[in-house]
Amino acid sequence: MHYFTKMITNKFISLLLLFLFALGCSGKKDKAITVLFTCETESRLEPCGCFAGQFGGIARISTRMKHFNKGLVLKVDAGDSLGSTKDYDLLMYKQALKAFEHLDYSALNLGQNEVALSAKQIKEFQSLTQTPLVSSNIFDAKTNETLLDDVVIVNKDGLKIAILGVVDPSLATDNLGDGLVVKDMYTSLSKSLKKAEDADMKILLAFCDKEQMHNLAKKFFEFDMILGGNVKQPSQKLELINRSYVLYTTNLAKNIGYLQGIHNKEKGLTKVDFDITMLYEDVPQDEDILALVDDYKKEVGSTELECDKHKEDTGDLVPGVTPLASYVGTETCATCHTNSHEIWKNSPHAKAFKALEVSNSQSDPRCLKCHTVGFNEPSGYKRKFGETKLVNVGCESCHGPGSEHVKQRMSPEKTLFKYRPLGEGDCRSCHYGEFSRPFDWKTMWPTIQHQKEPKK
Ligand code: HEC
Ligand code: HEC
Ligand code: HEC
Ligand code: HEC
Repeated sequence: MHYFTKMITNKFISLLLLFLFALGCSGKKDKAITVLFTCETESRLEPCGCFAGQFGGIARISTRMKHFNKGLVLKVDAGDSLGSTKDYDLLMYKQALKAFEHLDYSALNLGQNEVALSAKQIKEFQSLTQTPLVSSNIFDAKTNETLLDDVVIVNKDGLKIAILGVVDPSLATDNLGDGLVVKDMYTSLSKSLKKAEDADMKILLAFCDKEQMHNLAKKFFEFDMILGGNVKQPSQKLELINRSYVLYTTNLAKNIGYLQGIHNKEKGLTKVDFDITMLYEDVPQDEDILALVDDYKKEVGSTELECDKHKEDTGDLVPGVTPLASYVGTETCATCHTNSHEIWKNSPHAKAFKALEVSNSQSDPRCLKCHTVGFNEPSGYKRKFGETKLVNVGCESCHGPGSEHVKQRMSPEKTLFKYRPLGEGDCRSCHYGEFSRPFDWKTMWPTIQHQKEPKK
């Protein structure tokens, strides 16, 4: 190459490099950032499926999160990603942790449900996932150190982001897990923040009520964002308190929150935008997440659980006085109440177990309570029965165990036991919340109405 051309080329290249470097620096100064967050998902990978048109579920959260792909995107959970400490909910949590890892969450804060786990269980769950569980105020009672990372540092696109987490200690008084101590949020955070001093941005995940989030924002000027939960309703507006943006959400994986803006090292977060987005039915469910639901169903079916254990029949028995009734099954009732049985047989209640089988949920203890007779009671439905007995919403699901009634009605002696009259409230023990369309006695009872047998 001619010397002159070469020199020009070199010059051009170094200018180009200089230009790119400058661009890089300014890029470092102003950075588009989106923080996506969830709270109180209680491991709901998908809704229960009790009626068409249900929304929510982590499988929908996953789909919606894919829309956010510009600039730096961070995903966090503010707590209660665990449903409860029941054995089947722990199996569900395991799958939920896989989902959060698959979605590349940066941190999961521990909420009220998680602090009911023992220190050992929390450690075990942490060892199952790459996603850091975080808490500044949950301590190991043995070592008096924080049980988990108290600060999670994320280095992304040249930004150093610190994520901290707290749970309101008053939520852990009745149900605190073995080996845990939950300390005061303020002193714990003051300590942990020292590890985050040089971070460009600090995010607090706070499982506490609205007032406490406000107080945290007033006390600590460090946080750019306080994202939280343990509220009845998600945020209606974005609040700026001190220099923290405060936003919260709730409600069994039915929505996600996002907070986005332009981060600048001098000016902090500007051009802020936010929303709490409902995940309606029309948001497709991510197949990868639904595959985890299948894994859960397989595992819950093949694992021996608390509900499979024999239970002693103690009930409300007053020894020697109240005879204790047990479940006898709908077919036994049918022998005398032929008309009621005929009506029942043609009602949706007689198909309630089939509905579980269709969705392969017949072994899922979360579903059996309302789709069988007397599940979790000593003489009620057991998973080992399969579909052989006490399936469906039988007579005794509503009227209660019938052995005593049958015994007395078969004996020539005077009947002492009487079933109490039922009403709307008894229906609502199953027809409520996420499991049912709004319940209306006036229109729904007539569709299954039955009464005493006509006198012969
Ligand atoms: C608290 C009680 C309750 C629990 C728990 C419950 N269900 Fe239901 N389920 C109902 C009620 C009530 C209905 C009828 C809802 C309606 O029609 O509005 C229903 C309906 C259904 C249906 C629809 C049946 C049809 O023919 O359309 C399916 C499927 C179903 N449930 C599956 C499940 C699964 C799976 C679970 C566990 C993850 C579950 N249910 C847990 C009460 C419950
Ligand atoms: C041996 C026959 C027989 C069997 C089996 C039987 N019943 Fe009855 N039942 C009666 C008679 C007789 C009455 C009183 C007349 C009437 O109400 O029809 C009665 C009354 C009732 C009543 C009204 C309240 C009461 O206690 O008097 C209810 C509710 C009832 N039965 C539900 C059931 C259920 C649920 C089963 C199955 C667990 C069942 N019965 C099995 C004979 C029977
Ligand atoms: C979904 C709940 C439900 C199921 C399932 C159900 N019942 Fe009822 N039953 C009721 C209600 C509600 C009433 C009306 C209020 C009352 O009398 O207790 C009633 C009334 C009755 C009565 C008349 C009681 C009286 O004193 O007049 C009898 C008898 C009866 N049921 C028997 C049965 C039998 C037998 C079955 C099963 C084949 C059955 N029921 C299934 C809810 C149910
Ligand atoms: C033990 C739980 C339970 C109780 C108690 C119960 N239901 Fe249900 N109900 C169900 C389930 C589960 C289904 C869904 C069955 C299916 O379709 O597979 C259902 C379905 C129904 C449906 C059909 C829903 C539809 O939209 O078509 C009606 C109507 C209904 N129930 C009325 C009642 C009434 C009235 C009562 C009270 C007298 C009652 N149920 C009490 C569990 C219950």
